[in-house]
Amino acid sequence: MSKKIIEPRTASEAVTTNIVTPHDTNHLGTLFGGTLMAWIDTVAGICAMRYAQMTVVTAVVDALQFQQPVRRGWIVTARARVNYVGNTSCEVGVRVGAEDIQQGESVHAASAYLTMVALDKEGKPCPLPPLLVQSDRDKRRRRAAETRRALRLALQRRMQAEGKT
Ligand SMILES: CC(C)(COP(=O)(O)OP(=O)(O)OC[C@H]1O[C@@H](n2cnc3c(N)ncnc32)[C@H](O)[C@@H]1OP(=O)(O)O)[C@@H](O)C(=O)NCCC(=O)NCCS
Repeated sequence: MSKKIIEPRTASEAVTTNIVTPHDTNHLGTLFGGTLMAWIDTVAGICAMRYAQMTVVTAVVDALQFQQPVRRGWIVTARARVNYVGNTSCEVGVRVGAEDIQQGESVHAASAYLTMVALDKEGKPCPLPPLLVQSDRDKRRRRAAETRRALRLALQRRMQAEGKT
């Protein structure tokens, strides 16, 4: 029986842009963390779906850091890229920039790494094509992502052993 050959794919990317409305802000007039988390999850999901060409779900969000407060009226741009592809999962890195257009200033608002899992039509984890890694930058990204994945899996094993999952 012939085995299906899955061609490697280049890393996908995604970008989303939002404006911070009064509805998105807390009593300090700054963006809710949960709203920013939703934007991060959305851009990572689009990026992973582009790579997988199928449905994906978020399995893990880690290293989420809110670097700077983001104020009402600012424009928020979230950029995502696939760093690493395992068997059925991939790691997507997201970097969020926020722009105060009236002052002409931009800040690094947040960053995160998300592990996304591809699902087949029955909702079961499904193999992804291998990642084509060519540039030195992409090789560095993949190495760093492999280290994070090992740490994530070690933490998962430890939590399971302690009955916390
Ligand atoms: C994510 C989910 C499909 C994984 O199911 P599962 O039965 O644990 O599947 P597996 O054990 O085969 O793991 C699938 C992949 O996820 C990875 N994974 C799962 N948990 C992980 C963790 N804590 N850290 C790192 N990777 C993890 C596995 O390593 C595996 O990757 P690989 O195939 O590349 O090696 C399942 O837990 C789920 O449906 N969770 C809910 C998802 C959800 O509702 N998200 C929010 C809305 S999108």
